Amino acid sequence: MRHVTLTQLFDHPITQKYVKRSGMAHAIACAYHAYRLANEYHVDPDKATKAAFLHDIGHYTWYRDGKWDYELYKQNDIHAIKGSERAHKLLIRLGEHPKIAKEIALAVLFHTDSFLPEGQLELDPLQYVVALADEADEEPGGEHHYRTITDERARHLLTLLDLKLDAKQTTYHEGHSIEKTN
Ligand SMILES: [Fe+2]
Repeated sequence: MRHVTLTQLFDHPITQKYVKRSGMAHAIACAYHAYRLANEYHVDPDKATKAAFLHDIGHYTWYRDGKWDYELYKQNDIHAIKGSERAHKLLIRLGEHPKIAKEIALAVLFHTDSFLPEGQLELDPLQYVVALADEADEEPGGEHHYRTITDERARHLLTLLDLKLDAKQTTYHEGHSIEKTN
């Protein structure tokens, strides 16, 4: 049994505010990439899709004179740190298992090394899958943050992914004899 679904995450006002800010279409595309990659790298798809969906939840808006200032963003960005904490709080509020919430928060934290002065991180498989999922949907110049999607289509795509995940969860846990978390 999954404690929290992607649809539940989508419906929460915090997600509506902050994931929309950084791009709902990108978040959903990343969740789908993470689902595929989780299989390839033998990672729990439930954790991978949630972390990928929430990975950019920490973005701040770096505007100067009404325009996005990329330099300001590059110098001052801590979206991975902010997002990690925000994703964790949201998951716990919705009833996620604390162990899973921590793993997802760490995968959000390490999806990019942009906040580290000279980043050379050694990622675990879950963190690696989430970083790859993000890269897989990136467009030059950060265009992926501006793709749009209607609420209806977003919710529909996440409902479909939830169904796939529910079906997959039992096989994943049986196949990997991971201790039950509930
Ligand atoms: Fe991203």
